[in-house]
Amino acid sequence: MTDKKSEYVYSDDSDNITDILMSGTDTADWEREDNEINDRAIGLIKKLVTRKEPVLLDAGCGTGRLLPTFAPHFSHIIALEPDAERYEEAKGKLKHLGMAHKIDLRNLCVEEYRPSGRIDVVLFNHVLQHIGCNQIDTVMRTFGRIQDVGGLLLLSTCHSCTEKDYFTKARVVGSKHTEEEIGEEEFNSLTAGGQKGLLQSHFFCQKSIERILQQANYRIVDFKPYHHSIAKNGCRDQFVAAVKS
Ligand SMILES: C[S@@+](CC[C@H](N)C(=O)[O-])C[C@H]1O[C@@H](n2cnc3c(N)ncnc32)[C@H](O)[C@@H]1O
Repeated sequence: MTDKKSEYVYSDDSDNITDILMSGTDTADWEREDNEINDRAIGLIKKLVTRKEPVLLDAGCGTGRLLPTFAPHFSHIIALEPDAERYEEAKGKLKHLGMAHKIDLRNLCVEEYRPSGRIDVVLFNHVLQHIGCNQIDTVMRTFGRIQDVGGLLLLSTCHSCTEKDYFTKARVVGSKHTEEEIGEEEFNSLTAGGQKGLLQSHFFCQKSIERILQQANYRIVDFKPYHHSIAKNGCRDQFVAAVKS
């Protein structure tokens, strides 16, 4: 493990805003849908990853929430988390789970990462929606550079059920989750500032995600909107699997 520190600060301290959003839903439904998506992703890993000792990159691992689910399917894992507090929490969790030997955890943003070997699978789970619009191409190009043809990208992000992308900022007022729509400019300025207690999100329409992946030379092999229990109409999130071409 390396102790290089990143400057980045994630604005949802202790996942407070996200947890309150979830608690306003039927939590059992929310978790069941999460588990279904993880099973779907693992099914694709089993089907499409052929290398004997496959390597996973968990890009933006947060507190390491998904590592126990995905780690058993890989020989080696690199996990990136730029927020210092979340990185430390993930480090403690891996030690506690006895998984530290298998996972190379780094306090870095995706854009700063320079791998030394091939990455078979990139897990990019609920990170893309928090990244500034002008950073998306850089991040996707990073994945394109570190994966060979046939490499698998597993992406979950916020979903717009309409023909257009939209942006929100969310906070907790009293004990309630409140979210309001904002313009792209304000969204981008929030991604740069990292204002604690105010979480900005980008909701991508299907066409927009298709364009982003196509530009980065990825071919979509699976697409599934999910978390229907929370959205006013349709689903709040989307899962997309894509293969590097
Ligand atoms: C909603 S959390 C998701 C964490 C984890 N993937 C999960 O599903 O539990 C978003 C995480 O992305 C991280 N993040 C934000 N920008 C990033 C970037 N450019 N590169 C890597 N991680 C980033 C944040 O620090 C935060 O921990």
